[in-house]
Amino acid sequence: MAMHRARTLRTNPVLFIIVFLAAQSLAPAQTGPQDKTPPKPWMNASLSPDERAAMVVKEMTLDEKISLLHGTGMRGLGPVSPLSVDSNGGAGYVVGIPRLAIPGIQMSDAAYGVRQSGENGRYSTALPDCLAGAATWDLEAAHEYGALIGRELRAQGYNMSLGGGVNLAREPRNGRTFEYMGEDPVLAGKMVGEVIKGVQAQHVIGDIKHYALNDQESGRNAVNVNMDKRSMRESDLLALEIGLRESNSAAVMCSYNRVNGDYACENKYLLTDVLKKDWKFKGFVLSDWGGTHSVVKASAAGLDHEEPAEIFYGDAFKKAVESGKVPKSELDDHVRRILRAMFAAGVIDDPPEKSVVDVVGGLEIAQKIAEQSIVLLKNEPGQLPLDASKLHSLAVIGAHSDVGMISGGGSAQVDPPGGNAILPPGQGRTKWQEKIWFPTSPLKAIKAKAPNATIEYDPGTDPSAAADLAKAADVAIVFAYQWESEGMDLESLSLPENQDALIAKVAAANPHTIVVLETGSPVTMPWAGQVGSILEAWYAGSRGAEALANLIFGEVNPSAKLPITFPKSDADLPHPNIVKPPVRSTSKDGDHDAWKRIAEGLPAFQVTYDEGVKVGYKWYDAENKQVLFPFGYGLSYTSYQYSGLKVTPGNNVRLTFTVKNTGDRAGAEIAEVYAALPASVAEPPKRLVGWSKVRLNPGESKEVSVEVDPLYLSVFNVDRDAWELIPGDYAFLAGGSSQSLPLKETTSLK
Ligand code: BGC
Repeated sequence: MAMHRARTLRTNPVLFIIVFLAAQSLAPAQTGPQDKTPPKPWMNASLSPDERAAMVVKEMTLDEKISLLHGTGMRGLGPVSPLSVDSNGGAGYVVGIPRLAIPGIQMSDAAYGVRQSGENGRYSTALPDCLAGAATWDLEAAHEYGALIGRELRAQGYNMSLGGGVNLAREPRNGRTFEYMGEDPVLAGKMVGEVIKGVQAQHVIGDIKHYALNDQESGRNAVNVNMDKRSMRESDLLALEIGLRESNSAAVMCSYNRVNGDYACENKYLLTDVLKKDWKFKGFVLSDWGGTHSVVKASAAGLDHEEPAEIFYGDAFKKAVESGKVPKSELDDHVRRILRAMFAAGVIDDPPEKSVVDVVGGLEIAQKIAEQSIVLLKNEPGQLPLDASKLHSLAVIGAHSDVGMISGGGSAQVDPPGGNAILPPGQGRTKWQEKIWFPTSPLKAIKAKAPNATIEYDPGTDPSAAADLAKAADVAIVFAYQWESEGMDLESLSLPENQDALIAKVAAANPHTIVVLETGSPVTMPWAGQVGSILEAWYAGSRGAEALANLIFGEVNPSAKLPITFPKSDADLPHPNIVKPPVRSTSKDGDHDAWKRIAEGLPAFQVTYDEGVKVGYKWYDAENKQVLFPFGYGLSYTSYQYSGLKVTPGNNVRLTFTVKNTGDRAGAEIAEVYAALPASVAEPPKRLVGWSKVRLNPGESKEVSVEVDPLYLSVFNVDRDAWELIPGDYAFLAGGSSQSLPLKETTSLK
């Protein structure tokens, strides 16, 4: 019947118009009494987020308040509530309160792009990984990175991002190093802040994580991290402090591990004393997935929200409020913070509308950022860029470079269109902790640049066969990878799968060997002296191959610099081995009740970061250890000269100096500024305090000006529980890497 009417309407335009107009005039009456109710007073966008949140809290029932304190479950991780039926398919879903016009919170992981697009039948752009993002040292690029993620989240129906990873790369074998922003708190904090700003500008709730000191994955649910307060505040916590200050992130995710005895998600020092009091954080704290361990202790410590389900922050929380164990004011504070975050980020005034992701626009941005993130580590004269007109033959070897480039795993994983590029189309569904190659083929991208050259591929599985191919070619490009993921750490910084031997053999066969690394952490390079050029491409994202080809053939001049030191060997790290958890402190795969045992609390084991503030280059500097490639290092196809440093003291110390492009190509130089603090403060020899990215044509000079935030020159005084700038002589150093600082000027600061 209905179908018949529809057909008649379509074939009779006059009738259609009459029915359409009638429907229009009826429309207001049809929507019913709901629309006649006056808008809720908190929907007045001219009020502040604090005022609006406070108004809603006053109207809420106890059950409504409790409903905002927890998620509704995640498949494969503990109990799932029937309420999750309205979930958008992301990692977290909090029910809304329609009576009060409060929408649900749809959370998705979004480290280098929106997660779980595969299982939800959607599409997401994969940006270069977060460490690659940091290698751009480019705040505009970081903003674009976040804005792209924010737009794609909205298009897919999400209103909250679970990105913003900024754990310091204190332990570079951490399997999540690719999700973070490197080893320096100022660089990492500024860059992550800009990413989150970009996300929140799209009216998506931003998140910064994992607070704090979740610097290794091994035993993350049990480990107790020991560190003194000063070191903590000046290293890992400083990255978060700067990130929050820059972005006003609406949410902070507390981490799985314990810190100095208490779980991070029930750690009063971290959540209340530092975050909410000292840093004046106004948003809400949510636990990492399964990282909540109590009601009363967690609530009093400052945990506002449990994810992914309601083990503690549902009925148990309600009972605790009713019995007076959790004060009502504490409950109201949690709820107010969550609502405030929603108003502040704009998700109530401007909710997401599902639409088609801008695929083409996303690919362009991914490529542009990749081009700024790939670091040229070595280049013997005349090696790179390649001149396509002079190239007769090229051997492309290894790492599935015929079809794709590797990506980082775990909850950061972005699903490639068509599935894993090394599997037949349609069979490459993403599975937890599987190596996923994105369909961005270096072989194809290189062939497109040199259509007249003979270009052949060898998988590199047999080093002798690869070397034979290399020998017959003008140039050999070997691709090597080191895959990593959440939930694991690297055994070592050595390339796996015999790739060191492959590179050495190819290099011995062809003096014009170029190595392209696809790694999420630094790697050791026993063959570094034998090859002509080395490029670190990280996990390069959806358009990695095209970006790489532009660099290899000189259409783009490399500008990226390392956000992390490449040591000579694992033995040079502060801890030669990662401390592994005893069996009793682990949950086994396939243990269906693992979530329960984790929630109840696995027995602790100890990791003591006694290197403290000496993270990355600060460690190698202080210990006088030679490194393979230093922090802040990266080559270009042109060269730069630094001169004329002037330091002007003041509230913000100001440095000016000149950078000149002395070569014959346009380029962008990241000019870095470090400070050496007065000897009396017992700090590592120097710390990064600022930088500027300068774009210069051949022969051009520009005066660069860098203002130094006094926080970056301060030390944390534990007795006074405050930052202080110690009067004395400060040396300021400027140059192109942490180990190439030709300019130096000492100033006395009061
Ligand atoms: C990760 C978080 C992630 C969450 C939700 C946890 O295992 O540590 O970073 O946001 O899962 O997927």
